[in-house]
Amino acid sequence: MKHLIDPLDLSVEEIKELLDTANDIEQNPQKYAHACDGKKLATLFYEPSTRTRLSFEAAMLNLGGKTLGFASADNSSAAKGESIADTIRVVSCYADICAMRHPKEGAPLVASQYSRIPVINAGDGGHQHPTQTLTDLLTIRSLKGRLDHLTIGLCGDLKFGRTVHSLIKSLARYEGIRFVLISPGELKVPDYILNEVIRAKGIPYQEVERLDDVMPELDILYMTRVQRERFFNEEDYIRLKDCYILTQDKLNKAKKDMFVLHPLPRVNEIAVEVDKDERAAYFRQAQYGVYVRMALILKLLGVTPC
Ligand code: CP
Repeated sequence: MKHLIDPLDLSVEEIKELLDTANDIEQNPQKYAHACDGKKLATLFYEPSTRTRLSFEAAMLNLGGKTLGFASADNSSAAKGESIADTIRVVSCYADICAMRHPKEGAPLVASQYSRIPVINAGDGGHQHPTQTLTDLLTIRSLKGRLDHLTIGLCGDLKFGRTVHSLIKSLARYEGIRFVLISPGELKVPDYILNEVIRAKGIPYQEVERLDDVMPELDILYMTRVQRERFFNEEDYIRLKDCYILTQDKLNKAKKDMFVLHPLPRVNEIAVEVDKDERAAYFRQAQYGVYVRMALILKLLGVTPC
């Protein structure tokens, strides 16, 4: 039985297969409409979510399966003190696969150690978000035609942004990647990502504070929101929350074939006027999230459509 806890749980070859399946699902949805008849997905969400939970549910429904679950810790027996280990043992009796989001880093890993069904990490604290990364990889490959030889700008809260950490770990495995890390000093990429991933692999990177200066170099600009829920101090959040706002004027300095991604939700960091620019790809990205989660469910359940 395979779980997806960390983006590196999948090899580069497995990711290619998943993205190929996701592209096939996009082109031939009917082929997959009954692939998971009789199967159930549990969504165990101890933290708020719109995209990840609903796209997992949409994915399972599109495959002919059913879903069950809870959308907040308050609506589960976690509110009475139940442990992750006990919860997953019980959910293993009710469902065939589960997606778990939790504010504590490592919670889905603990769940996987007690589970009788595949566990998917749907975001654990400020740590990892591997299925957002699959979404991001599918979006980049679909828009740019490749995952190698790209200059990737990551902008905003690079400290607490788990999607950033997972994306860096994954893209670091492809040739010719260069990272431009754009953040205020207080929200820089954590040292463990710099040391164990970027520096360890000798990947070229720059850390800068100004977005405007680097805009013309980028093939992808990955914007992120400042993660209010991870701050200890509301004053720090207020001071930093609007440190980057992508406007049309700023985007005009970018290459014509650069794309703007954002895991969403957006707060202020991308002006609404940017949405109508062809290079704004964040809503297409959310759509890709359904296809790639369908592909992942099929893989972890070992289902091959007829
Ligand atoms: N991208 C993402 O994880 O969005 P949600 O928090 O809405 O699931």
